[in-house]
Amino acid sequence: MATSGAQRSGGLDYDPSASETVSDPYPVLLALQRDDPAHWSPAVKAWILTRYDDVKRCLSAPSMSVDRIRPFYESLAADDRATLADFMRYLTLWLVFRDPPEHTRLRQLMAKAFTMRAVENLRPSVQEAVDTLADGLPRGETFDFVNDFAMQLPAFVIMDLLGVPRAQMFHLKSCSDRMQLFIGSARNAPDKYERAAEGAREMAALFRDLIAQRRAAPRDDLISAFIAARDDDDALSEDELIAACMLVMFGGHETTTNLLAGGMAKFIANPDAAQALAADPGLARSAVEECLRLDGPSGSMARVVAEKHQIHGKTLAPGERVFAMLNAANMDPAVFDDPQRFDITRSPNKHLTFGYGPHFCMGAALARLEGEVAFPELVRRFPGLRLAGDIDWHATIIMRGPRVMPVRID
Ligand code: HEM
Repeated sequence: MATSGAQRSGGLDYDPSASETVSDPYPVLLALQRDDPAHWSPAVKAWILTRYDDVKRCLSAPSMSVDRIRPFYESLAADDRATLADFMRYLTLWLVFRDPPEHTRLRQLMAKAFTMRAVENLRPSVQEAVDTLADGLPRGETFDFVNDFAMQLPAFVIMDLLGVPRAQMFHLKSCSDRMQLFIGSARNAPDKYERAAEGAREMAALFRDLIAQRRAAPRDDLISAFIAARDDDDALSEDELIAACMLVMFGGHETTTNLLAGGMAKFIANPDAAQALAADPGLARSAVEECLRLDGPSGSMARVVAEKHQIHGKTLAPGERVFAMLNAANMDPAVFDDPQRFDITRSPNKHLTFGYGPHFCMGAALARLEGEVAFPELVRRFPGLRLAGDIDWHATIIMRGPRVMPVRID
C-alpha cells in the first residue's frame, strides 16, 4: 500500500522555496542528512537524498533514469504541448536527458570533438577575457559582480569554444533566460511556455546558420569539430548538431557563473584564504575544488525511479522523482573532515559537484580552467573587494548561486 506524504516525510519538512532555505539551505539539508536521509518532500513531490554514498549511487544506478523531460511534457495540456513541440525536438536530443543506449552514442560522438586539447587551447582567451572584464570593473562604487563579471566570463568562453561571435552574447543570454522558463525551476510567469519556445527557436536558428557556415568553411572551433566527429559511419544529424550546441551553451553558462560568483563570495567572507591565494597562485587548483565543493554551484540533480527499490527503509516506486542533493552530499561528515570549513588546501576533495558516473559533466575541465584563471587574478588585483549589500540567491533546487551580488572595490 502506498504511504502518505506526511508518513513518508518523517517529521522534517524540506521546502526549497521557503525564503530562509533559499538564502541558507544547509540547516534543513544537514538535518535531513542526519535524521531522514531518504526524505519524501510534499512541497517538491519528490524524494530528497542527502548522504554522499546515496547521492553517488543515485547518479550512476541503472534503477534511476535521467529521462524526466518527456514524462513532464506528456503530462501538459494539449495546447502547451503544441507550443513546446519545436523546443522538445531539440531537448529530447540533449544527452543529459537520455539513458543508454542513446546517451552512449551521443556522448561518444560529442567526446570526439570536445577534447582536453580543445579546452587547453582556450587558456589564452580565458586569460584575455578575465583581464578585459577585470579592467572594466568600477572602483569606489557599488556594482553587481554577477552581471559585470561572473555572467560575462563563461558566456565569452563558451562562445569562443563554439566559435560564436562575442557580439551575440546578450541575444544568447536572452534566449537562455527564456528557455529556463521551461527547463529551469517552474516560475509562474505568464505565457512562460510561449517565451521558452521562442528562446529555443531563436537559439536553434542561430546555430543552424553557424553550422551551415562551418560546413562550407570549417574553422578551429567546436561547431566544426562536432560536424567532423565520426564513429565508424555514424555522425551527428543536423538536429543533433543543433541540440549539442544548445546544450553546451546552456549547460556551461549559468553553472559557471554560479561557481565564479559563489566562489568570490567565499573569498570575501574568508579574507585569509583570499590573501593566501593572492600570495601563492599555485593554490589555484585546490582553491577551485573547494569553491566547487562548499556551497558550490550544483544544488541537486533530478532522476526518475526506473525500477522499484528501497533506500533507508523507504520504497521508491517507478515514476517517482528523486533529487540527489549534491551540495548536501559535499558536506557529508562521513566523507569530508570539518565539512563546513572553507579550506583551499583541502586534499583529497572528492566532491560530487560535476556529478558522477555516465553523465559526469563534459565541461568540467573548462569550468575548472575559468576558476583557475579568474580567482587568483581577482584576489590579487582587488584585495579591497567587499560585499556592499545582501546577496540575493537563486530560488531553485537545481542551481545554487547568487542572482545579484552587490560589491565594491575600496
Ligand atoms: C561549474 C560549472 C559546471 C557545473 C557545476 C556542472 C555540473 C554538471 C553536472 C552535475 C552534470 C551531470 C548531470 C546529471 O548527472 O544529470 C553535468 C553534465 C553536463 N555538463 Fe556540466 N557543469 C558545469 C559546467 C559545464 C560547462 C562549462 C559545460 C560545457 C562547456 C558543461 C557541459 C555539460 C554537458 C554537455 C553535460 C551532459 C553530460 C552527459 O549527460 O553525459 N558543463 N554538468
